[in-house]
Amino acid sequence: PKDVGILALEVYFPAQYVDQTDLEKYNKVEAGKYTVGLGQTQMGFCSVQEDINSLCLTVVQRLMERTQIPWDAVGRLEVGTETIIDKSKSVKTVLMELFQDSGNTDVEGIDTINACYGGTASLFNAANWMESSSWDGRYALVVCGDIAVYASGSARPTGGAGAVAMLVGPEAPLALEQGLRGTHMENVYDFYKPDLASEYPVVDGKLSIQCYFRALDRCYSFYRQKIHNQWKQAGIERPFTMDDFQFMIFHSPFCKLVQKSLGRLMFNDFLSASSDTRTSRYKGLEAFSGLNLEDTYTNRDVDAAFQKASLDMFNKKTKASLYLSAHNGNMYTSSLYGCLASLLSQHSAQDLAGSRIGAFSYGSGMAASLFSLRASKDASSGSPLEKLVSSVSDLPNRLASRKRASAEEFTEIMDQREHFHRKVNFSPPGDTNSLFPGTWYLEQVDEMYRRKYSRR
Ligand code: ACO
Repeated sequence: PKDVGILALEVYFPAQYVDQTDLEKYNKVEAGKYTVGLGQTQMGFCSVQEDINSLCLTVVQRLMERTQIPWDAVGRLEVGTETIIDKSKSVKTVLMELFQDSGNTDVEGIDTINACYGGTASLFNAANWMESSSWDGRYALVVCGDIAVYASGSARPTGGAGAVAMLVGPEAPLALEQGLRGTHMENVYDFYKPDLASEYPVVDGKLSIQCYFRALDRCYSFYRQKIHNQWKQAGIERPFTMDDFQFMIFHSPFCKLVQKSLGRLMFNDFLSASSDTRTSRYKGLEAFSGLNLEDTYTNRDVDAAFQKASLDMFNKKTKASLYLSAHNGNMYTSSLYGCLASLLSQHSAQDLAGSRIGAFSYGSGMAASLFSLRASKDASSGSPLEKLVSSVSDLPNRLASRKRASAEEFTEIMDQREHFHRKVNFSPPGDTNSLFPGTWYLEQVDEMYRRKYSRR
């Protein structure tokens, strides 16, 4: 199959949010710490009525209803998540409920877990399947979703919740570029969830940021090596730089980190440029010439200088991708794909046509990849790219239609989630009318931990 990639995409986020200015006041921190310091505006959150299964049920059903793809046209479904409510039973098996009426049980794939990376692993698996002898000619669905919650403290404002489902197939308007994946994996304890009695991670926030930067540097370097090899075979001899990405999206734990990361990629280009290029293209930055990447993860001067130097690039290539992230927070495995949806919702098909979109996926622990998508050239009305773009154009309006909860209400619901986590024999409290129409929700957990869902 040619041009395997993303044919259609659906985003789901909860119908309620807390405003970051309210959280700043409630947590008695300086005004601007979350909104300016982290770059976050609002944070979506789920009540006890929603869990990872219901989030994924909702997003898959919405995608299938919109695309009108028959259920038996799907031959693979994978889930990437780090929201674990069962150590054995996958979310994928719960999603098979949706296939029941169609009689289609011949669906490969299960869940993939490693922090925020599972969605990318699932996407790679789906594409690999399609390009392999195992492919049976049908579509693949890639589902990623998470409920990102932290114990009260400095990490809490970097939570969020949501899910993304992607229809993967050949001749896609967003094709995965073959052979262009730079990956870095390493054993670190920056963010992990060893306490199965709690929904919250153990997190070393500062270390996680250093790990994110290191993974970014390494992945970018591997990605460039691979594209240089491809270019060499095609007779092209020049260095790959950020100019070769028309757009760049990132896993977004909070928007400020993404802005710094784009600056960091410019710093990578700067360090590998010839001295002539450094003086001509990077005026005023020459003082940073002698530095090594590994010594600068916490260098505030590098950080500030390259963030400033890359501001124009940020506005052109990345800012639009952060719309959902700023208004909904970190969706963990679905964060990167929410950024992709945002990018599509803020640009016309014409803007995107023919572009190369760089994508950096990071999962703590750690697993990370930088890869790229190529938008098709045809942006005419009714083309697959135009349809994909218009399918997410309602994102800002949908976000605006959520209910604003107070910081007190948010905290109360976090306490409720703690209370019901791992409980049996209960029906979640709350009014199902507060959910968006069409949302699946948890109706009951019985005495044997079996979960029952309904749809609003
Ligand atoms: N106005 C403007 N900016 C402010 C203000 C203010 N009043 N007060 C603080 N700031 C800035 C700080 O200067 C800092 O920015 P800088 O680093 O650019 O200088 C920023 O706000 C954050 O403040 P800090 O005090 O450095 O950090 P804090 O202790 O609040 O913790 C952290 C932030 C580490 C991100 C925390 O929220 C966390 O642990 N989050 C979870 C981990 C995470 O998301 N890691 C990312 C990769 S892994 C993953 O995806 C889960």
